Amino acid sequence: MSATPLATGSRSGSPKTSASPPDENDPRFEADLLAIAAEYQSFYRSDGTTFSPFDCRAPVHPAQASRASDGGHGRKLYTLFIKDFTAYAKLSGVSAAASTAIPLHGPVRAMPQIIVKEAWTPVLADRYREECRDKEGKLPSYLDHVTVDGKNYAACELAALFVMYRPERPERAVDDGWVYGTVQYDVGPGDRDGQTRFTPRVTSAGKLASCARCHREAPHGRLFGLPKKAVEAR
Ligand code: HEC
Repeated sequence: MSATPLATGSRSGSPKTSASPPDENDPRFEADLLAIAAEYQSFYRSDGTTFSPFDCRAPVHPAQASRASDGGHGRKLYTLFIKDFTAYAKLSGVSAAASTAIPLHGPVRAMPQIIVKEAWTPVLADRYREECRDKEGKLPSYLDHVTVDGKNYAACELAALFVMYRPERPERAVDDGWVYGTVQYDVGPGDRDGQTRFTPRVTSAGKLASCARCHREAPHGRLFGLPKKAVEAR
């Protein structure tokens, strides 16, 4: 499948690009989603490794261009974080034992599976420095560059987290075992001068029709599975 041309521009604002009605935001799932937002960065990446904050090299995360043509994460670059990598990889025919145990602390420990798709707005790589790097109040990007139709793209701004998880109590799930959610970050001044604080905010949660319309067609029980590049690398 060929990748959709990417929608570039660092000032694209809201990640909601579709004209569908606003999604529900079921408050029963807010605490779970905030707990996920607090810990997902220690999950496995799509290559089965984890990023250690004690690693002195700058982290470079495996990145892909989304195949989704519309909806919130369409035409974005993304990187995945997966709680149970072995189970997720198996869906795509990859057998992988988890190499290191991931340190989890809060309620996420009891959730059987969590997949977070971190979606970033793309910018042509040679415009990155000018349009993104030194912009105030933005998280530095750590995604690898992605080539689409011969053009090299960098990730500019974090647009949103797209989350699918299996809740601790399976009867709370809303779509074939899963709960959908989206999280965005509010940017504000930090405690000290010159610091920026990123506060996660749940923007939709529950049985989101805007997610289910595509994920119902996904090949592995609501999931699309590991990116092709990650499967080929194995
Ligand atoms: C237009 C179709 C479409 C819509 C709408 C959509 N997705 Fe996806 N989603 C995809 C595709 C295709 C993938 C596979 C990766 C890629 O190419 O982006 C994917 C991958 C994912 C993944 C990685 C897990 C996996 O293997 O499937 C998560 C998590 C996810 N989407 C969450 C969401 C959430 C949450 C919503 C609703 C807010 C949503 N998606 C709406 C098409 C869609």
